[in-house]
Amino acid sequence: MSNEKTYYITTPIYYPSAKLHIGNTYTTVAADALARYKRLTGYDVMFLTGTDEHGQKIQRIAEEKGVTPKDYVDEIVAGIQDLWKLMNISYDKFIRTTDDYHKKTVQKIFKQLYDQGDIYKGAYEGWYCTPCESFWTDTQAVDGKCPDCGRPVETAKEEAYFFKMSKYADRLIEYIETHPEFIQPESRKNEMLNNFLRPGLQDLCISRTTFTWGIPVEFDPDHVVYVWMDALSNYISALGFDSDNDQLYKKYWPCDVHLVGKDIIRFHTIYWPIFLMALGQELPKQVFGHGWLLVDGGKMSKSKGNVVDPVVLVNHFGTDAVRYYLLHEIPFGSDGNFNSEIFIKKVNSDLANDLGNLLSRTTAMVIKYFDGVIQPPTDKEDIDNELINIALDMPKKVEAAINELNLPQALDEIWTLIRRANKYIDETTPWILAKDEDKKARLGTVLYNLIEALRFASVAVSSFLPETGTKIQEQLKVDVATWDSISAFDGTQAGVTLEKGDVIFPRIDVEAKLAEFEALKEAEQPKQQMQPLKEEISIEDFEKIDLRVVKVLACEPVKGAKKLLKLKVDLAGEERQVISGIAQYYKPEDLIGKYVVLVANLKAAKLRGEISQGMILAASTDDDSKLFTVTIPEELPTGSQVR
Ligand code: ME8
Ligand code: MG
Repeated sequence: MSNEKTYYITTPIYYPSAKLHIGNTYTTVAADALARYKRLTGYDVMFLTGTDEHGQKIQRIAEEKGVTPKDYVDEIVAGIQDLWKLMNISYDKFIRTTDDYHKKTVQKIFKQLYDQGDIYKGAYEGWYCTPCESFWTDTQAVDGKCPDCGRPVETAKEEAYFFKMSKYADRLIEYIETHPEFIQPESRKNEMLNNFLRPGLQDLCISRTTFTWGIPVEFDPDHVVYVWMDALSNYISALGFDSDNDQLYKKYWPCDVHLVGKDIIRFHTIYWPIFLMALGQELPKQVFGHGWLLVDGGKMSKSKGNVVDPVVLVNHFGTDAVRYYLLHEIPFGSDGNFNSEIFIKKVNSDLANDLGNLLSRTTAMVIKYFDGVIQPPTDKEDIDNELINIALDMPKKVEAAINELNLPQALDEIWTLIRRANKYIDETTPWILAKDEDKKARLGTVLYNLIEALRFASVAVSSFLPETGTKIQEQLKVDVATWDSISAFDGTQAGVTLEKGDVIFPRIDVEAKLAEFEALKEAEQPKQQMQPLKEEISIEDFEKIDLRVVKVLACEPVKGAKKLLKLKVDLAGEERQVISGIAQYYKPEDLIGKYVVLVANLKAAKLRGEISQGMILAASTDDDSKLFTVTIPEELPTGSQVR
């Protein structure tokens, strides 16, 4: 029997260029909370995630490692799937763009759009950012930098297929304007309209010939489909779009929400809807662009190496602690911050104190005062009503927050109940009631209300913290945990016997844990990957290079060249001029008087109009963040050989 309420939610498909970090984890955990919530409230859910495996960057990395791109991604993808298991992600389908059915669909889409005249062959000339797999126009690539990531772009010119974006721009503008819920949050919508759509869309380059790791264009196999057309199509290929097996497509499309980071909203709200319009398909109901998770206030990226590894966090604190932090600490629609100390303190206050203690205090009292047997709520007082009303309102408030995709708000609503229940203990003072035999029924009622409040919290929290929801329900022997069951405050069964359970969130010693963490970070500092060694040479080859000790006599900046220094060096009485690209690392006065190593038989060359007679040796990191000239520690006659 098919359920008529369907809900289709997707995450971006991640690049398996390296293992995923806490930022990617955030998107997937958020999507998981939504998917679980929709299932709990009666929807037939399709939750899709996966990996975006093609492109030049992955081909390059694989080449550097000396493996095939497929072997390379297979290993990373296995790690990603393990991560999702660890994070308790309940996806219904995992798509890999290297899956055959996906490749076929993309080829069909490309052919159809070509046949109907939306795609034409031309020449591409412009800028390309390899890490982002993005082409940029002159105006976009300001100062030769990628507007998304700030890294240098490369020039590119090649024969390529183009998609006529401009043809659909007016229709898309109208669609966006008449569907205010389509791009969320609102601010992102205005950004798309004002910065991209209204100034006029350029045709989009959708094929490449300079690398081969991609889906070949069926009728022109020198070309591979440029990654964004390949990648975006996953959302429909996964459902069997345009195949003999398209029941899922019929059932779930259009998508309810594409959850993406703000970095890729443009692709999802401009290119993707236009491709769909061209294919004559319905547009997704919503694209939600969430903010970035910063690390100690700075941007995290695989290429920068300041990434937080979710596996390490889970190993130390457990899945639900990490899920809680991600879901609660990234404000609705804006950037959030990851900081180990705040993380640990949050776990202690919200999870160990508020929730964990409420559960252990409540069960401990039932065990102590009633041998674990839950009493019927026969002795009600007015003071109970506030707790009960907060509990009864909570599901509606959670629902409203979730429907706006405001997950922190949804958690706050649950915690309002949890905190109220803790206050209720202070107000009703069960330990004083316990001293009075006449107050037994009242004591039993108070404990009943606490258990029932915890049952409400456990059901509502289970979409966010699934393990925690289950643990609470096991300890309280809850037998109905449906969403409907928290519309009435009477689901707890009197007469059931509770036993002492485990502490669900042990308190963490902040100082000790932080120290342990720092030590770990140090140990995990990424070591620089050595550049591959060059081809072997003979001693004769080496002896062709004449290396000599020289003394720096004078040194000054080269006018108009920020990176260059002009050095005068003494080579056994002969004065040489050397232009060296080390101005970012040395002030002229740092070098004067130093004994350095000169490649003395290098053919003279002109740099910025200045003659350079040789080269000074220096050692540097691959990214040039650090550089030192090779110096001789003490005085040595200039002209001495370096061998
Ligand atoms: O862009 N904070 O893949 P990707 C929050 N393959 N979220 C973050 C984040 C951070 N610091 N860093 C990354 C791609 N993300 C394409 C997508 S979809 C058809 C193709 C999340 O591996 C965020 O959701 O670079 C972002 O959109 C996604 O990871 C990018 O993952
Ligand atoms: Mg990216």
